[in-house]
Order: sequence, then C-alpha cells, then structure tokens
Amino acid sequence: MGLHVGIIMDGNGRWAQGRGLMRTQGHLEGLKAAKQVVKAASGMGIDFLTLYVFSTENWKRTAEEVGFIMGLVRQYLKAEFAFASENHIRVRHAGDLSRLPPDVAEDIADVCRDTESFTGMQVILALNYGGRDEIVRAVNKALAGVSGKEIKINETVITEHLDNPDIPDPDLIIRTAGEYRTSNFLLWEAAYAEYYISDKLWPDWTAADLAEAIESFQKRERRFGGVNSASCEARVSL
Ligand code: FPP
Repeated sequence: MGLHVGIIMDGNGRWAQGRGLMRTQGHLEGLKAAKQVVKAASGMGIDFLTLYVFSTENWKRTAEEVGFIMGLVRQYLKAEFAFASENHIRVRHAGDLSRLPPDVAEDIADVCRDTESFTGMQVILALNYGGRDEIVRAVNKALAGVSGKEIKINETVITEHLDNPDIPDPDLIIRTAGEYRTSNFLLWEAAYAEYYISDKLWPDWTAADLAEAIESFQKRERRFGGVNSASCEARVSL
C-alpha cells in the first residue's frame, strides 16, 4: 500500500491578520504554499496527498471569504492541470460534491475524470468535507444499496462506502498553525494515523517543512493497537 499523507492547512487568516492584510490574501498565499507542497510531495515517495481545503463547517464564514476560496479552487484546477498531466498526478475529491456551487462541482468532476487514468501520486482535495458527514453519507449509501432488505452495518460496510474506498488510510496527518485538533478531518480513516503539528502558519510552509514532517514520521514506530511495531522508515524516500 502507498504512503498517504493528509494536511490540515491552517493559519491563512492569522498569516494575513499579522500583516494587516485581508484574510483572502492569506488564502492566496496559502494556495501558493499548496502548489509548492504538492510539487515536493510527488518527488518524496508520497502516493496519496489529501489536502483539507474547505470543511462542511467553513460555510459559516462570510460569503466573500467562501466565494474567494471557491474561486481559488477553480483557479488551482485550471493552472495546475499541465503539471498534473506532465507528472501523471491524479486529482480526486473527498466530500459532498452535490452541495457545492455547480460551477465548482463541475470543474472538480472534470479534472477528476480527465486525470482518472494517471498512475502517479494522487492528490485528494477535501472540499465541502466533514468526517462525520462522510460517515453519515457512507451509512446512507450502504442502506440505499439494499433497499427493502435488512443490512448489518459493520466496519467493512462503512469503509466500503466512504468517498474513496480504494485509498488506503492516512499514515501521517500534518496540521499547521500549532492547533491540536482534528477539526473533523478523515475521522474514520485516521484511526491509526500519526499526527505531526507544526507551529508555522500554512502560507509559510515549504518543501523543507514537508521533508521535516516526513523525517519525524520515519522515526516513529507504529503498533496499530498490537505489540509488534512497524517501522515507518522504509516507506519514504527523501
Ligand atoms: C485555513 O486557514 C485555511 C482554509 C480554510 C482554506 C484553505 C485553502 C487554501 C490553502 C487555498 C486553496 C488550496 C487548494 C489546494 C485549492 P484559516 O482561514 O482557518 O486560518 P486562521 O485559523 O488563521 O483564521
């Protein structure tokens, strides 16, 4: 199974406020950091990179900020398509696509379709994503699939109905801006993930920070609830 890293890209607002700028400027810089990190990740042996772009709770922000982030997503998809193509990067989505503005949902569906056959790193954009929402949708999908018949919900049934059931659970979850919270990110999938918290604000993140996080991960021993440890070292190449 390939190495899966998830990133909670936090601190865009604080980055901007600290400079007396609008929060939207922080998101713009955050997008630049995301582009750099995606490029670096594809050369570091990371097979799956999930970026937490917009949560199911982020709709509580002002319409201006929400609109700006959605615009950035569309811009990202257009501007980075050539890079994805050249590097065989497959773009995927996690979250509820049906509740996104139709133009954004369409752009995401298009890029997911157009990169579907690419066999390099997979970048999963978690957009209108909430871990609880994903679990609820998974249960509902499972129930809808057997209408009229009884179904026993168990871990396998839920896992099979998640947004991207073929993607392995995240090995490492990075959170920036020094917060020690999961914020509803990959709740089901992160059961045995290693966490790495960085004090740096997301717009200040670079390839070197990702390398540092991976180095820290390599030194950890994972036991998955058992007693035999699995080293993380062999999994990544820096
Ligand atoms: C968290 O910072 C960041 C977000 C909610 C938006 C993340 C979006 C991007 C980085 C741009 C789009 C990226 C891609 C890959 C399309 P915050 O606003 O919660 O910061 P704060 O906690 O300091 O206020």
